[in-house]
Amino acid sequence: MCGIIGYTGNRQARDVILSGLKRLEYRGYDSAGIAIGNGSLNVIKDKGDIDHLISVLPVMRGKFGIGHTRWATHGPPIKNNSHPMTDCKGQIALVHNGIIENNITLREELMKRGHVFRSETDTEVAVHLLEEFYDGDLEAAMRKTIKELKGSFALVAIHNGENGKIVGARNISPLVVGVGKRENFLASDVPAILEYTDRMIYLLDGEVVTLTKDRVRITNFEGKEIKRSWQKVDMTLEGAEKGGYDHFMLKEIFEQPKVIQDTIIGANLNAESGYSIDLTPDTIKIIACGTSYHAGYVGKYMLEELTHTPTTVELASEYRFSSDTHSEPLVIGISQSGETTDTLSAIKTAQKRGLDTLGIVNIVGSTMTREADSVLYTRAGLEVGVAATKTYITQLVALLTLSIKMGVAKETLGIDDARHLTKELRKLPKNVRSVLDQSDAIYELAQKISGAKSMFFLGRNINFPVALEGALKMKEISYIHAEGYPGGELKHGPLALVTEKTPVIAIAVKDQTYEKMLGNIGEVSARGATVIAIGTEGDRELDKYADYVFYIPDVPPLFTPILTSVVMQLLAYHTANILGCEIDKPRHLAKSVTVE
Ligand code: M6R
Repeated sequence: MCGIIGYTGNRQARDVILSGLKRLEYRGYDSAGIAIGNGSLNVIKDKGDIDHLISVLPVMRGKFGIGHTRWATHGPPIKNNSHPMTDCKGQIALVHNGIIENNITLREELMKRGHVFRSETDTEVAVHLLEEFYDGDLEAAMRKTIKELKGSFALVAIHNGENGKIVGARNISPLVVGVGKRENFLASDVPAILEYTDRMIYLLDGEVVTLTKDRVRITNFEGKEIKRSWQKVDMTLEGAEKGGYDHFMLKEIFEQPKVIQDTIIGANLNAESGYSIDLTPDTIKIIACGTSYHAGYVGKYMLEELTHTPTTVELASEYRFSSDTHSEPLVIGISQSGETTDTLSAIKTAQKRGLDTLGIVNIVGSTMTREADSVLYTRAGLEVGVAATKTYITQLVALLTLSIKMGVAKETLGIDDARHLTKELRKLPKNVRSVLDQSDAIYELAQKISGAKSMFFLGRNINFPVALEGALKMKEISYIHAEGYPGGELKHGPLALVTEKTPVIAIAVKDQTYEKMLGNIGEVSARGATVIAIGTEGDRELDKYADYVFYIPDVPPLFTPILTSVVMQLLAYHTANILGCEIDKPRHLAKSVTVE
């Protein structure tokens, strides 16, 4: 993970770097630091987030520099392990995103040659290598350094003797160049520098870039120059402000009606421009991580129902190590960021196996959009809260539109049924709004359950993965232990943990699992658990079984996850808020997981 930024131009670099780091904070907030060049190098870093860094930062004058926000991998979040790292003489400063896998061997060799290490990080070897290879040319030293490194890296360095010059290199971890007028930028992602320019050049693996305020020079690791012109990005920073809400997460939950609408429109545009996949594959494999995996799991039910295509879902981090016998003609990778290393590696594995890959991605220009064979965009806009909400909902919508399209192509879905589902799709924003209207009532309930140490989330069939996602949302932002289970599985073990102190959230919408879910609610109620059920409007039975009930509009079963998920999101949000948790930046987490 980690976020990195570099600036060279006529502005005070400190200001540009700090504003960029604020926007990169979702990538990690264990520690932060900045190095400004101005004849000598001025490096300030500390444990804690960017606001803390700003509070300890003196005036730093200088027109070029680099900055870093860290998600700790090697060594705890303390000042010495913060970036930028400097060499023994204090002439070079370096920031890194990724993992240098051969750092232990390199460290031993460098120490034998007299280098003094001050941190426990894998990164520090790179700055000492730069020092060894430096001969008046930082770019040449960078090229020699990266030849020694194994693993993933986006590296950005400056040298106090090379005024106004920044050198970066990329292998696996993302790096984008922002092209300005008499100024240039480097960053882990576009929003970090979008305030200053919308002209971007995406670096590819195996490339080195050297920036001065007037020039961007891209070369491959061997030094051969690469010509690539900038692209104008169509993105706004509107999403980067809280807009009157207490937290980004709440704002993003309430944006869902709009982004659903945008994704439906976008899916049609995508379809017109034609994401070029075979719409009638014999089998499908979905790969993703975290919340995106849960979306994929819901997608499995949609695809199987509407296209009759056997579909399996696998965690990306596991797929990569599975035996080479997979032969699904279509592999769908789902990623909000398009930068999750496990998912990117799984896509590469699928391609090596000769399979067709489709990426369902939110961030335009991200690595997955370039690496997957085809792309279907979700249109959630920028999501700042680490907990995925609107991006997950738009993944569900994208999967539903894809399933309808494939169903029609396969003729497993009649034209009239497809029309009916499309009509239901259009009603989704309104239906989600009616769930959002229950936010205050969900808050009242959250007050009753926020003292719990443990919770269970139950669902069956297409709402089973929603239970997994509900539990993930609850645990990641409120730190309450929560487990998602299929309703029928509880009695095979976990029921032993259910007591009157264990709230159970049960999805009991009117579908073919309804009666069975009532049975499961009975089982946990009999053990004293408080049951919070999510049911379908018009159901007169459910409140006889559950202690509290929230209702979603009556929609076709395949649409229910989009509405039941919103109840779960609000429940997690209000619970975490009542507990005073750091909702947008939960401990130990980062939004974009670019380590394996
Ligand atoms: O960017 P991605 O969708 O690939 O991210 C995958 C997971 O890291 C992510 O969904 C994570 O689980 C969420 N932030 C949890 O809310």
